[in-house]
Amino acid sequence: MTRDGSTSEPPAAPTLAAVWVVDLDGIGADAVDDLARRWLDREERSGAAAKRDPSDRRRVLASHLALRLVLGSWLGRHPAEVRLTRAACPLCREPHGRPVLDDPAWRASRSFSLSRSGDLAAVAVASGPLAVGIDIEARPPLVGADDLHAGRHPDEDAALAALPHDQRDLAALRCWTRTEAVLKGWGTGLGVDPAAVAVGLGSSPPPGEVDATPIGPVTLPEHDLRRAPWTVVDVGVAAPAVVAAAVGSNQRSSADDAAPPVEVEVHEVALDELLARHPDTTVIGARSG
Ligand SMILES: CC(C)(COP(=O)(O)OP(=O)(O)OC[C@H]1O[C@@H](n2cnc3c(N)ncnc32)[C@H](O)[C@@H]1OP(=O)(O)O)[C@@H](O)C(=O)NCCC(=O)NCCS
Repeated sequence: MTRDGSTSEPPAAPTLAAVWVVDLDGIGADAVDDLARRWLDREERSGAAAKRDPSDRRRVLASHLALRLVLGSWLGRHPAEVRLTRAACPLCREPHGRPVLDDPAWRASRSFSLSRSGDLAAVAVASGPLAVGIDIEARPPLVGADDLHAGRHPDEDAALAALPHDQRDLAALRCWTRTEAVLKGWGTGLGVDPAAVAVGLGSSPPPGEVDATPIGPVTLPEHDLRRAPWTVVDVGVAAPAVVAAAVGSNQRSSADDAAPPVEVEVHEVALDELLARHPDTTVIGARSG
């Protein structure tokens, strides 16, 4: 479903985005390890190896398999052929900004983002010159209450206080998820204080539907950072989770542009189903290990 988040003259064509919410639970550790050895790059494997808990390790690997399956089918490539790198951090210029496609032609016109929470992963892809960020948070939340409270803009605190008590927990989680999606789209992550950015409390659309709202523009002089208006998308899912995506431009020159209109497709799928759709995958014994 689509809603236009623009405030003034929109670009001629909407940015096409897809959000995939993937249940990572159905694949056993042995099958995940086997595919990870064949498909993932060294960076992805070492990110997983840094996790102490074997379940966390499996989830990181499984989320990267999901990412590569989505990107591979989007780009018409085998998942192992998708080459990834990191953009420069907008704050310090070191190469730990947004993950991006390594191929410069694709990088200019395709953006993606990955998030994990418990046994769920979310992948967002967007076509066009704009960047995308995504965040998924399981319900009940795994995010600490301290994070949730420290990360809110004063306007959001006021909006939350105006809600009936029984709606506040969900609205606070949505607000956090929207904020993280924006900061991941910008590539700063939590290097920018989430309380400095007002994204609003958003809404909870039904599964498969989305609700898009414009935010910004945002200027953070302490970081020498200016961002054009972005479109924040609440993504309705059947899974026990809150999902938000954010789409916009990271170019300084576009700081006065309108928030981009976006058309979003929502897919919810289990990793073993995603694997079964891939012609080059055998997941025998997927649920063992
Ligand atoms: C980016 C960040 C918000 C992700 O938090 P998280 O709790 O791991 O959340 P998620 O599960 O939603 O996202 C993880 C994914 O985000 C992506 N990611 C990592 N850094 C990112 C960035 N700067 N921008 C956008 N996406 C990023 C990666 O794909 C990562 O998956 P991976 O670790 O398997 O590679 C968090 O790691 C962060 O803020 N890091 C600090 C950034 C910072 O301080 N920058 C300033 C340095 S000067």
